[in-house]
Amino acid sequence: MTGSRTQLPAWQALREHHRAAQGFHLRELIERDAARYEKCSFRSGGILFDYSKHLVTDETLRLLVELARQCDLPAWIERLFSGERINTTENRAALHTALRSQEPVVLDGRNVVADVEDELSRIRRFCEDVWNAKRHGSTGRAFTDVVNIGIGGSDLGPAFVTEALVPYARPHPRLHFVSNVDGAHLSGVLGDLDPETTLFLVASKTFTTLETLANARSARTWLAAKLGGGTVARHFAAITANPAAAREFGADPDAVFEFWDWVGGRYSLWSAVGLPVALAIGVQHFDALRRGAREMDEHFRRAPLERNVPVLAGLLGVWYIDFFGAAAHAVLPYDQRLKRLPDYLQQLEMESNGKRVTRDGATVDYATAPVIFGAAGTNGQHAFYQLLHQGTLLIPADFIACCRPHHALEGHHPALLANYFAQTEALARGKTTAEAEAEMRARRMTEDHVAKLLPHRVCPGNRPTTSILLDQLDPHALGALIAFYEHKTFVQSVIWNVNAFDQWGVELGKELAGRLLTELEGEAPVSSHDASTNGLINHFKAHRQHR
Ligand code: F6P
Repeated sequence: MTGSRTQLPAWQALREHHRAAQGFHLRELIERDAARYEKCSFRSGGILFDYSKHLVTDETLRLLVELARQCDLPAWIERLFSGERINTTENRAALHTALRSQEPVVLDGRNVVADVEDELSRIRRFCEDVWNAKRHGSTGRAFTDVVNIGIGGSDLGPAFVTEALVPYARPHPRLHFVSNVDGAHLSGVLGDLDPETTLFLVASKTFTTLETLANARSARTWLAAKLGGGTVARHFAAITANPAAAREFGADPDAVFEFWDWVGGRYSLWSAVGLPVALAIGVQHFDALRRGAREMDEHFRRAPLERNVPVLAGLLGVWYIDFFGAAAHAVLPYDQRLKRLPDYLQQLEMESNGKRVTRDGATVDYATAPVIFGAAGTNGQHAFYQLLHQGTLLIPADFIACCRPHHALEGHHPALLANYFAQTEALARGKTTAEAEAEMRARRMTEDHVAKLLPHRVCPGNRPTTSILLDQLDPHALGALIAFYEHKTFVQSVIWNVNAFDQWGVELGKELAGRLLTELEGEAPVSSHDASTNGLINHFKAHRQHR
């Protein structure tokens, strides 16, 4: 299908329909249809997804699904799963689903699922060896601490999942994650560690990423200074699509775990990149995580568009972004252990769909990915929710919680969930002028006081939210939740006709940083940049030494 998405009949019908939607209020939409919750809630992967608090009618949903059809979404889903090279700018497949598939997936005549299984078997053996101290440090002591060095997709997924699944963690080893090239990150972690009992995992798809290599080299220097240069291989494993570079770096060749160019960095958690997760929680739980994702894959591939949870989430996002002008989307986990979910989704959604040209290179004439932000509830309530309730921007939000906690502290979970339910209700219903007025009168405020305060106390409501409820934060449900977001992101990329699997914009900054590093090392003032950048660099050069 060529031509702008805005020319599609369904897009134009949605534009027309949006005029009618100006008159919708969630309070009324919910009140006038007693069956709305039943109609708009779906269970998949052991998770409840409730879309009843969205600014949609049956007609809106019909048009959105029609838009998906006119964008050929079912065919694109098949292209994704079957390994077509849909990452056209890099001529690669995007086969993260093969990383958790039980069915063969053939790419260039090779069943890649068999390769995945082989690598996972190596990971299983490696984990066993670390736990049993068959693999140990150069002085014979067992590894007590594992430091994963990586950034972006080689850090965010494993760091998020390891933290989320702490209740499933084995007693040892302890996991640490270092990503930032700021030396404060690595030195802060190394400060508490004993080199004799520390194992480093260097995770980098390319094995060329500046931050990761700088941290890996400094870790190697730290280790060699304490234990001698000949000990490096014993203490370094690597996870990469560039195994030659990892071996050259000095990682133990038997502990170099591969993944492939058809796995995007931000979709790589399920590959060897998940090694720190497997070490922390055990292979059995890592497998459960992959099974949960597989269940969501099955749902995404087979469920009709009208009842397909990632499809609906993607389409609702398009509805707000492209028709209401929503520029941001909040991710609000009511679970402390999911507090890194917004960071994880920032990379997933913004690196995937933060694009301004279509697959064919034409400039889009509609908005694409929104700003993703969020924080754990209830903390966010006391920080930025004011803007969600009464600000001038429309910010749709995902509210995520678990029915059963992992702790036994009395009273905490009901208090957390009371806030969870209260927020979505308040965002949907708001507080009308009449309600605010009645409330103040009941408090016997003076007429003058009531008049002054009234506009401030009214909340417009009509702010859409999705409620996502896990039975419990366990590996299976977490796998399904992450796969849900992967597929939602893909759905939106199809509607926007962008390639979700490249990231050329990130390259520009990387290239410039590489050049600049050499210039920073010299003493002479720089003059090769624009006047603003020259001025800043020369200020830094003049002030970097204590004088
Ligand atoms: O930020 C750009 C990026 O290329 C991400 O897509 C990727 O996850 C990250 O850098 C790390 O890359 P690598 O795993 O190759 O070190």
